[in-house]
Amino acid sequence: MLGACFESDDIFLILAQTACSRYSATQYMKILGIETSCDETAICFVEAEGIFGSDFRFQILGNALYSQIAIHAPWGGVFPNLAKREHAKNLVPLLERVLSTARLQTRGESLTVPTKAELEAILSREPELFEMLETFLKTHVKPWIDAIAVTAGPGLEPALWVGVNFARALSLLWNVPIIAVNHLEGHIAMAGMNGDRIVKFEFPALALIISGGHTEIDLVREWPRFETIGGTRDDAVGEAFDKVARMLGIPYPGGAELSKLSAKARQYGIVTKEKLPRPMLREDNFDFSFSGLKSAVRRIVDDRTLNDDEKMAIALEFENAVADVLATKMTRAAEEYSAKALLVGGGVSANAFIKQRLAESLDIPVLAPPAELATDNALMIALAGYFHALKYEFANPATLRANGNLRLGTPL
Ligand code: KG4
Ligand code: ZN
Repeated sequence: MLGACFESDDIFLILAQTACSRYSATQYMKILGIETSCDETAICFVEAEGIFGSDFRFQILGNALYSQIAIHAPWGGVFPNLAKREHAKNLVPLLERVLSTARLQTRGESLTVPTKAELEAILSREPELFEMLETFLKTHVKPWIDAIAVTAGPGLEPALWVGVNFARALSLLWNVPIIAVNHLEGHIAMAGMNGDRIVKFEFPALALIISGGHTEIDLVREWPRFETIGGTRDDAVGEAFDKVARMLGIPYPGGAELSKLSAKARQYGIVTKEKLPRPMLREDNFDFSFSGLKSAVRRIVDDRTLNDDEKMAIALEFENAVADVLATKMTRAAEEYSAKALLVGGGVSANAFIKQRLAESLDIPVLAPPAELATDNALMIALAGYFHALKYEFANPATLRANGNLRLGTPL
């Protein structure tokens, strides 16, 4: 039984080697993805086969996501400990839903005493989750899965820990290896998604991550290896969108709604006389700064009651400013690094105007996920995990840690 040896590195090696012996370069695998880095609790069960950027296809066997947005919205941001509590409450129901969609609900069995003690130790900070898992086990046996992929960072650390500990518990119960996934890599893995495939493209590629918490450019010579060449010095793009949206009276997270206002202004030709800056546009680097842009909006908005047309016009000018900066910097980066494709990911990659501007400015394929898969989800974690499993890159469940500041390119 694996349980008794869970803390042992030897057993971790045996587990990983068993997994290795099952896999080859393009092996068909079933992966369970778990995402809890921020305010979405998500679980996805996929089967996948192929190589990233070449022949790759997948099928979603079960997928469930619970968004906590409504819970955090009144505070205008995400409360880490509230997010943690909600994740702990929702993981087991979501897992049940995923397994039942995948028709994997069967009779279960009770925990043996040593396994129960070990599970309790792993989930000592999530006692409610432990109790739910124990009940779950009475009606479910181990599904056929090859590995569990879990977001290990970056994100809100208390929230990340819940997913990591849940993955460690399932790994122990089901005797399957864990893949620790960088959340940002998950976003980028979705860039070329087209139906049940990732489209073919050539390396070196550039990755542009534009999310609520991160904005950075990475050079990707091969998948999944990243070299960061630039990033924001202050606010992330999504953060700036959300803060400006709030100034215009749009509740958190307002990025998508702000973009709708901007699209209306574009459609009706409504413009503002007040021009916003394009920060760091001409600087000879690949860094960004969005907090000055946000403050410039605040200066326009403060002490004024804006009518609907004025709000639309400011939304438009703001979105134009962001798009100008991103398109200009990415065009230069693509030239400098002779990139053959741009992979865009993160919540803001749902923004149709920004995608359009990037596609018009760059003369290489610009790949972005379908809008509904641009924001946080567990499919991206399962798929990113699959590519690590192909390379036999598994985490040691005994030593796996959540890391809120995890950087892209840091080995896990
Ligand atoms: O990647 P994500 O789901 O969470 C993080 O990992 O941060 O990104 C969420 C961010 C939020 O800031 C949200 O306002 C923004 O993505 N977002 C958008 C759009 N859709 C989502 N920003 C601009 N335009 C959109 N259409
Ligand atoms: Zn994200």
